[in-house]
Amino acid sequence: MQPSDFEFLARVLKERSGLVLTKDKGYLVENRLMPLVRQTRCKTVADQRQAGQHGDADLTARVVEAMMFKDTGFFRDWKPFQHFRTVVLPNLLAARKAKKNFRILCAGVSTGQEAYSLAMALDQVRDQLDGWSPEVVGIDLSTSALTFAGEAIYSQFDVQRGLPIRMLLKYFLKDDDSWRLNDVIRPMVQFKFWNLMDDLFPLGRFDVVLCRNVLPYFDMQTKFAVLQKLSRSMTDDGVLYVGQHEPLSGVSPSFQAVDASLGVYAPQRSDAAKLPPLALAR
Ligand SMILES: C[S@@+](CC[C@H](N)C(=O)[O-])C[C@H]1O[C@@H](n2cnc3c(N)ncnc32)[C@H](O)[C@@H]1O
Repeated sequence: MQPSDFEFLARVLKERSGLVLTKDKGYLVENRLMPLVRQTRCKTVADQRQAGQHGDADLTARVVEAMMFKDTGFFRDWKPFQHFRTVVLPNLLAARKAKKNFRILCAGVSTGQEAYSLAMALDQVRDQLDGWSPEVVGIDLSTSALTFAGEAIYSQFDVQRGLPIRMLLKYFLKDDDSWRLNDVIRPMVQFKFWNLMDDLFPLGRFDVVLCRNVLPYFDMQTKFAVLQKLSRSMTDDGVLYVGQHEPLSGVSPSFQAVDASLGVYAPQRSDAAKLPPLALAR
């Protein structure tokens, strides 16, 4: 690949998704784009660049799609989910008992496992949620990942990573070589195509936001902007989970650490009359 091709692709990716490609990732670009080169009439990455420059929006979207890192898993890293179940969920049940509603956002939800893990955690306290209407919303800019998420059919490999066997047997149906999520959990999650580079206000306000294993692909400026948007779309007592190895100190003044080792943060608000944060055990 010519250096100019790499620079063009890196610019398109940064503009469209926030993803930053460093020069050492040239091999990755070739590997990921080759299947696309074969599927399209383009013969080379350079042809794709030409098509992109001439306004082929669909092709540009497919290039962005091909370059996304979509690795995920059920109850990934486990401890943040334990924190959600033991600290945040009881606080939500107490703090939102008048309106019987709370909203959770999984930003960069990929193929859905993170959002469905939360839905399963909610189902564990179903008797306490009688009459409630909790919402779990998963957003991503990968249409293929979102289609997969909506279908909710996972391979043996997918369900072996992090999903406790009792949950597999309770919530999934065996379908030949794969496992289909049941009709109790699947409808609990709504998936939407949404780019974190765009305004998040139309999505409404959230009590809990997960944005895990997404920020490391962005540069500092983009992280700052995305975190500011996330903070503004959260309730004052809301809780943000980022990846356990993605500390926000020095990255953004929009959040303060509650437990950085678990990736748990609270929005930083200037007004004095603050609600007790949902992220703190009471
Ligand atoms: C590595 S996966 C993380 C999945 C999940 N959050 C987890 O921790 O297991 C990153 C996801 O973020 C999505 N993503 C990257 N940039 C995005 C953007 N600008 N807007 C929305 N989603 C984005 C990717 O498509 C991918 O599905």
